Amino acid sequence: MQGFAGKVAVVTGAGSGIGQALAIELARAGAQLAISDVDTEGLAQTERRLTALGVRVKADRLDVTEREAFLAYADEVKEHFGKVNQIYNNAGIAFSGDVEVSPFKDIERVMDVDFWGVVNGTKAFLPHLIESGDGHVINISSLFGLLAMPGQAAYNAAKFAVRGFTEALNQEMAIAKHPVKVTTVHPGGIQTAIARNATVVEGLDAAAMAEFFDRKLASTSAEEAARVILDGVSKGRARVLIGNDARILDLLVRILGSKYQRLFSFGIPKLRPR
Ligand SMILES: NC(=O)c1ccc[n+]([C@@H]2O[C@H](COP(=O)([O-])OP(=O)(O)OC[C@H]3O[C@@H](n4cnc5c(N)ncnc54)[C@H](O)[C@@H]3O)[C@@H](O)[C@H]2O)c1
Repeated sequence: MQGFAGKVAVVTGAGSGIGQALAIELARAGAQLAISDVDTEGLAQTERRLTALGVRVKADRLDVTEREAFLAYADEVKEHFGKVNQIYNNAGIAFSGDVEVSPFKDIERVMDVDFWGVVNGTKAFLPHLIESGDGHVINISSLFGLLAMPGQAAYNAAKFAVRGFTEALNQEMAIAKHPVKVTTVHPGGIQTAIARNATVVEGLDAAAMAEFFDRKLASTSAEEAARVILDGVSKGRARVLIGNDARILDLLVRILGSKYQRLFSFGIPKLRPR
């Protein structure tokens, strides 16, 4: 992978899944890594794998919802490496539950991690990325940031918000002529622990839902997802879709317009586990 050698890249949620695969792929491409997660065990595993690849790595426990800590962390990373080129705002959680029965706190928690975590990371690192003269913000949204699904309102809200925030930022960087590229990533189903780490509203069977996701929906490996993301980053793409599921459903929704909602409200309840 071209264009990453000597760059300093920051990856949040790097203790598992897409974040871990991104960190490893970036290291293979010659980047230096600042990795973080709330899961210190997963993070230590990623750190060991990066160290074995012989790259410079800074690993820290960081909760992306803690704004002050994130701001301090950005300065620390800059101090440690002397510059910062890329941030991958990747940390995220999933939650399933219909709006009618979902407690406010669960909806807020998803917004806190999946949306505000991305805002915190973007704003904390933006001055350093501009200063680097060669910056890139990569925000992980989802296929669910392009279309809505019954039972996913909280996650949809957060991921649509990430998309709006990131697409506006992209245009602002161009207008201001700042040397910062901006990419929004929309993965389809990726083989990670996301569904096993997810919470669900009372009455839903979390284990059955995770099993359904792992068996039926997670079609792309985390390693492949990381390669697709880095390919998009190296080409300076504004939008990266991952997997045939993301490409096909994105196209379907653009063809159907708002009518996709009628189709999904008939079809999805028949497909998902009860
Ligand atoms: N797996 C998929 O199918 C899929 C599809 C679309 C989008 N995504 C997005 O990709 C990103 C990565 O997810 P993944 O699939 O690798 O899941 P994962 O559960 O394997 O990894 C997510 C990581 O984020 C960390 N994390 C959670 N809350 C955090 C917090 N508050 N602060 C810091 N770290 C935190 C977790 O500890 C975990 O290590 C997420 O934003 C997710 O929404 C995943």
